[in-house]
Amino acid sequence: MVERVQAVRGMNDILPEAVPWWQMVEATAREVLELYGYREIRTPLVEKLELFARSIGESTDIVEKEMYAFADRKGQWLALRPEATASVVRAFIEHNLQADPLARKFYTIGPMFRHERPQKGRYRQFHQIDAEVFGIDDPLLDAELMVMLCDFLERIGLADVALHINSLGCPACRPSFREDLKRFLHHRAPSLCPDCDRRRHVNPLRVFDCKVDRCREALTGAPQLLDHLCEDCARHFEKVQSYLGGLGVPFMVDPRMVRGLDYYMRTTFEVITDRLGAQNAVGGGGRYDGLMRDLGGPDLPGIGFAIGMERLILLLQQGRSLQGPAPEVFMAVLGEKAVSEAFRTAQALRRSGLGVEMAYGGGSLKSQMRRADKLAAAYVVILGEEELQRGVAVVRNMKEKSQKEVPLSGLVEFFSRRDGSSGGAPDRAQEPV
Ligand code: HAM
Repeated sequence: MVERVQAVRGMNDILPEAVPWWQMVEATAREVLELYGYREIRTPLVEKLELFARSIGESTDIVEKEMYAFADRKGQWLALRPEATASVVRAFIEHNLQADPLARKFYTIGPMFRHERPQKGRYRQFHQIDAEVFGIDDPLLDAELMVMLCDFLERIGLADVALHINSLGCPACRPSFREDLKRFLHHRAPSLCPDCDRRRHVNPLRVFDCKVDRCREALTGAPQLLDHLCEDCARHFEKVQSYLGGLGVPFMVDPRMVRGLDYYMRTTFEVITDRLGAQNAVGGGGRYDGLMRDLGGPDLPGIGFAIGMERLILLLQQGRSLQGPAPEVFMAVLGEKAVSEAFRTAQALRRSGLGVEMAYGGGSLKSQMRRADKLAAAYVVILGEEELQRGVAVVRNMKEKSQKEVPLSGLVEFFSRRDGSSGGAPDRAQEPV
């Protein structure tokens, strides 16, 4: 037996039956993002390892444990991107996009890579819809970003998610919190896992990220960042909440939410569901005002979020299916002599904008009709040798189960007039059924 080569663990094929969901989500995301003024940017999947180490943070799980890092043939350390923010910031700096007044709001959609333990909703290759904004520190933008995220989720039919928000303070107020937290963790040290025992010295905030039960328990009664916010951060956070409240967007302040990446400051947020088990974050983001400067660029504030597409689609699919495009016309052929004419007719119909599927390899009319039925074709055009001689084809309306003869030379016109349309793309059943 020849051994099969299988896909890499945690990296999934997206099969044709699932693709309509992906297309619907992507199309809606583009529509909503563009409505809010975002423009698409596409960056490479591979970057220098250093980019992620310096932005996401050396002592985060992503950089410490989850990155696909490798040396290329010249010994240069590279990594498959675990997220998009660092790449978009890098591109902004590298192309001096600061000089372009139109370049402030960006989005990108594509695969990310993290070597995590795969489970439902958590994969090693996954996809994000990512939005980033540079150069605006107005809390109105923080609120707008979350409103946009909720707007998008509502449009794709996902309303039962919760928006959690927090503020992580800034370089002015976070150090005093860090010291407080360090002191607290010092007393809890015996209960912490080895990772957290190490992190409490270098990056104590990361202890909030730990998924180990005993670390979570050890954090009971831990100091809260919100109690340490400086005046500016407190005002910023209040304004964000009041803008959200003003639009009637429900949210919950979650003082424990620190996010898994080091670049955040001030506003952070996550969209949470209780329908995906352990992987409960559908999306998350926040402000990262120092990142651009730390990566050698201008000192511009930044904020953004990313949505996990697999998780989104898992939620949308629960109990529902989405039909892919069906051909408008199935071309049935009877007899060798009719094949060339059927092929020519199919091409003419496609050029007029109709989706046409052919009966490859012939077969009986019955088997061809069965195939047309399976494909959910709206019409079958039947062309036999006898019809060919008379210059006609039989057009069967599969829904109404009626049929009529149409001259071959008038087929394109027949279809362009059948429902008042002028041809156009075939209808795509995009509504969940
Ligand atoms: P993140 O929270 O690491 O943030 O990821 C955002 C979303 O990506 C998560 O909420 C989740 O839905 C999805 N996700 C993450 N890891 C996996 C995985 N292994 N499998 C499936 N889905 C996953 C960021 O990536 C930040 N760059 C977001 C951001 C943009 N912040 C500012 N701008």
